[in-house]
Amino acid sequence: MIPKNVQPPQTESIKYAGSKLKIIPYIIKEIAKLKNVRTILDGFSGSTRVAQALAQLDYNVTANDNAIWSNTLANCYLRPASDDKTIAEILDHLNNLKPVDGWFSKHYGGMPEDTKKPFQIKNTRRLDAIREEIDVLNLTPQDKNVVLTSLMLALDAVDSTIGHFAAYLAKWSPRSYRDLTLKLPKRFPVRNDANTVLNQDVFQAATADSYDLAYLDPPYGSNNDKMPPSRIRYQAYYHFWKTVILNDKPKLFGKATRREDSRDLNAPSVFEEYRKDENGQFIAIQALRKLLKETNANYILLSYSSGGRATQRQLHDIIHAEAKLVHTVAISHKHNVMASMNSTKSWISHQDKLVEYLFLIEK
Ligand SMILES: C[S@@+](CC[C@H](N)C(=O)[O-])C[C@H]1O[C@@H](n2cnc3c(N)ncnc32)[C@H](O)[C@@H]1O
Repeated sequence: MIPKNVQPPQTESIKYAGSKLKIIPYIIKEIAKLKNVRTILDGFSGSTRVAQALAQLDYNVTANDNAIWSNTLANCYLRPASDDKTIAEILDHLNNLKPVDGWFSKHYGGMPEDTKKPFQIKNTRRLDAIREEIDVLNLTPQDKNVVLTSLMLALDAVDSTIGHFAAYLAKWSPRSYRDLTLKLPKRFPVRNDANTVLNQDVFQAATADSYDLAYLDPPYGSNNDKMPPSRIRYQAYYHFWKTVILNDKPKLFGKATRREDSRDLNAPSVFEEYRKDENGQFIAIQALRKLLKETNANYILLSYSSGGRATQRQLHDIIHAEAKLVHTVAISHKHNVMASMNSTKSWISHQDKLVEYLFLIEK
């Protein structure tokens, strides 16, 4: 899978649908070919793995995502905070707290015989004690981001989910039996003036400043031509992380005990809109067209997974309408092969359903 001579820097994060961990080497390779690229916007940074990799390669990275948990992760890895020794002392204090039965245990903890909960109760009791204490400790905002990242990684290591919080497993996962333990996040050295972290709508982030390159990885649709693309709904899938970050004990609903504000009727992002407009165009694709047009960058590297063929054709049309397609990379996870395509139309006829595309676009 990894292109020759590209050693991707180490990154770490939670399990995240749509994480581009596996294609980081291709992303790096495409960007490294370009001269005069120093400032990079990661407009939909999600797990922040791409932003972490680029920051370690000395680009000046701006990581943006409208999800609060992504903002916490990005601040932990891309912005300076106290040294590891200071953070380790805080984590040690938190690891030694007496577990308590609190709000998280009531809603997300399951007894050993009581499954379909995301965590075993012994671990939500630890979470209850730790999360309350983090607010009491009065940490600097940056240290709090590092400690909350450590808490997310620790919870992610003992969950009983398939990688999101929209439904839970009928049988406890093997890892859910482990004890929740806070560890030091694997940070790398960062200068104070190197990176920026934003928690904005992508249209704001991509237009308020200018960048040499913008990496854009919007939520994308299913592989089925006949169905409307069923987009990953990030706020609905990852509501739990928002609650861990805010510790706001929100009103919950449904079997998965989701936050009220993660209900499907509140479409949190135009890129997750699956309907077509009155002209038969997918609304999400039209939003992407607007984004390609308005993004203030010399280059755009656009990630896209193989949607239905109709979506692919529309995507092809908007890229050509708004900018110059320089290069296309198709990465097939199934066949473990990569095609590098300069012809503008060849990628549309690609039949493989599990293809990740990278479109390098010059504005
Ligand atoms: C496909 S994921 C990005 C994955 C990321 N590249 C990674 O490697 O983990 C899409 C992300 O877009 C974010 N998002 C959706 N709509 C957005 C918007 N309008 N503005 C900013 N971020 C948005 C979601 O929260 C989600 O994290």
